[in-house]
Amino acid sequence: MVSTGTYQSVLKADLLVRPLVPDDVATVMDIERQGYSHPWTESVFLDCFKDNYRLWAASHGETLVGYAVVAYMVDEAHLLNICVHPGARGKGVGRHILRHVVSTAAHEGMIQLLLEVRASNAMARALYENEGFREIGKRPGYYPAANGREEALVMVLEFGQ
Ligand SMILES: CC(C)(COP(=O)(O)OP(=O)(O)OC[C@H]1O[C@@H](n2cnc3c(N)ncnc32)[C@H](O)[C@@H]1OP(=O)(O)O)[C@@H](O)C(=O)NCCC(=O)NCCS
Repeated sequence: MVSTGTYQSVLKADLLVRPLVPDDVATVMDIERQGYSHPWTESVFLDCFKDNYRLWAASHGETLVGYAVVAYMVDEAHLLNICVHPGARGKGVGRHILRHVVSTAAHEGMIQLLLEVRASNAMARALYENEGFREIGKRPGYYPAANGREEALVMVLEFGQ
């Protein structure tokens, strides 16, 4: 069990972004369940360990504080998941992971990063907008929600601009 103080002491300067490994998945699941109303299952994470996926972990010392999952399809990267432990939010961890996703995807020949975000997810939308993403469409009823379905906004960041 990681104490709350461990997350509160997170400093961006001390963060390391490294590839996520299958042994991290139990910790990831703990963060995932706290992060989403409809979390991914463990088997969904395990299915992402494939050649055209990139899974990243942000760690502070030994403590995993956030992660991202990205799929590469031809020359497009698709951000499938990004999540930060609730105790470590608002300290720049999400931005740090996102910038790592962008720089590695660009370095690996992708031309843009696409994502879907719940219309109601103000924190994530603010992060993406601040990082230069723009909305290119909507997918009605894309997400399960407490009272039916919720629309997704589709956002893109084109590299090299
Ligand atoms: C979205 C998420 C990854 C952001 O991570 P974070 O580490 O808290 O974000 P950062 O501290 O790097 O903040 C980056 C930007 O996000 C926005 N943001 C962060 N916290 C916010 C808040 N409480 N209210 C509004 N905007 C906020 C701001 O634009 C912020 O930039 P600023 O500090 O210059 O104002 C995190 O809230 C999370 O894990 N949420 C649950 C999972 C989720 O919804 N993932 C996105 C799926 S599409």
